[in-house]
Amino acid sequence: MDINTNKAKVLVVGGGGRENAIVDALSRSPRVGKIFCAPGNAGIAMQAECVPVKDTEVEKLADFAENQNIDLTVVGPEAALAAGIVDEFEARGLKIFGPTKAAAVIESSKDFAKALMARHNVPTAAYRTFSVYDEALAYVKAGKFPVVLKYDGLAAGKGVVIAENFQQAEETLKDMLLDDRFGHGKVVVEEFLTGPEFSLLCFVNGNEVVPMVLSQDHKRAFDGDEGPNTGGMGAYTGLPFITEEDKEYALEHIMKPVAAGMSEEGVPFRGVLYGGLMKTPDGIKVIEFNCRFGDPETEVVLPALESDIYEIFLAVAEHRQIPEAKWSAKPFIGFVLASKGYPGKYDKGVEIKGVKAVQSMEGVKVYHMGTSLAQLGDGHEDFDGTGRSLVTSGGRVLMVLATAPTLSGARDKALEAVSRIDCDNLFHRTDIGHWAL
Ligand code: AMP
Ligand code: GLY
Repeated sequence: MDINTNKAKVLVVGGGGRENAIVDALSRSPRVGKIFCAPGNAGIAMQAECVPVKDTEVEKLADFAENQNIDLTVVGPEAALAAGIVDEFEARGLKIFGPTKAAAVIESSKDFAKALMARHNVPTAAYRTFSVYDEALAYVKAGKFPVVLKYDGLAAGKGVVIAENFQQAEETLKDMLLDDRFGHGKVVVEEFLTGPEFSLLCFVNGNEVVPMVLSQDHKRAFDGDEGPNTGGMGAYTGLPFITEEDKEYALEHIMKPVAAGMSEEGVPFRGVLYGGLMKTPDGIKVIEFNCRFGDPETEVVLPALESDIYEIFLAVAEHRQIPEAKWSAKPFIGFVLASKGYPGKYDKGVEIKGVKAVQSMEGVKVYHMGTSLAQLGDGHEDFDGTGRSLVTSGGRVLMVLATAPTLSGARDKALEAVSRIDCDNLFHRTDIGHWAL
């Protein structure tokens, strides 16, 4: 607690667009005084004090929280959760929002997630898990195509392959089970489902599940859902093809039974449970779970939250009932500006101009995903008031979002804002929201 203001000191762990959105939401809370972010980025630095500690340096982060009398820590990235940040903080009596290492396994192990769903009758694609190559191959050969092959572990987004034919399945299984491309592990072989995908993020406190507004990510790099898979090139809220009944179904038959199941089995989940869901011809089914806020979904979801996010985070961290969450009915839509070449190789350190001017546009926000500051000298834009300029420092660089009474109005406004950002090395999709527009 800050003794001068009687307001809370909060630490946010992470340094991307998701954490920028979390910091922004916390800065709207009347109870929050000072915000720190480790490691943060150039955009986050406008609202929080950045601390040069990596998200997986769990002990250093706990030392920092102790030394600074931090009231609450909020964790963004999965890597920090998998490194046991919540366990370490709780062991030291520090308040933290996020699942324990044991509960975070719902994201890192596809096999754990599938078995949990099977035990609690949660609808998902039919599957079998294999560790022996010959057995997996025989199973795939006898089944239908396309077939989905998922490496059972963290594989930097490259662990899911949709094999169109036997030859492709054989190559993938060889890669994953014989050559141990991602390490020695298992493979989940899954039935291929069809239908629109959407994300349902929920605040979870053991058995208690409070849904956020629905959102949809766009994973492919280029317009028309073409090109390689990325971390996500844009997102929006307000999905006309998912009804209130669909959402209710997903809550009652998917999110709540999973939370209750984890509590019952002795690994209660506390934090954000992310349901990656699909509306198939046979109803809503689970594609995946994540143990954290999604990125870029968080950047469009949290601006719609009208309640005090600090109260929600603190309640979960103290294992208390989650206060009511109110949401704006207006849609939010965001476009990711990524470095040319992403998700492959790309350059860094390229100047970005116009961000400050765009940030002052009515109904527009810019969240920083991968930016930093550089001393470029005369003739360059002064971004931070000390003469330093804004430069690219990652694959995904900025998320430009807008809100308006209609989704198409929000899209036009966001694209107008994007057009005012000047950088030689960025590209973006123009068709975010195409499923709804
Ligand atoms: P995941 O890493 O599990 O989210 O999978 C990445 C992407 O693969 C998903 O967003 C889906 O587009 C696709 N996918 C995963 N599982 C299936 C499935 N059973 N049927 C169809 N597509 C899938
Ligand atoms: N947007 C997908 C994810 O956060 O995993």
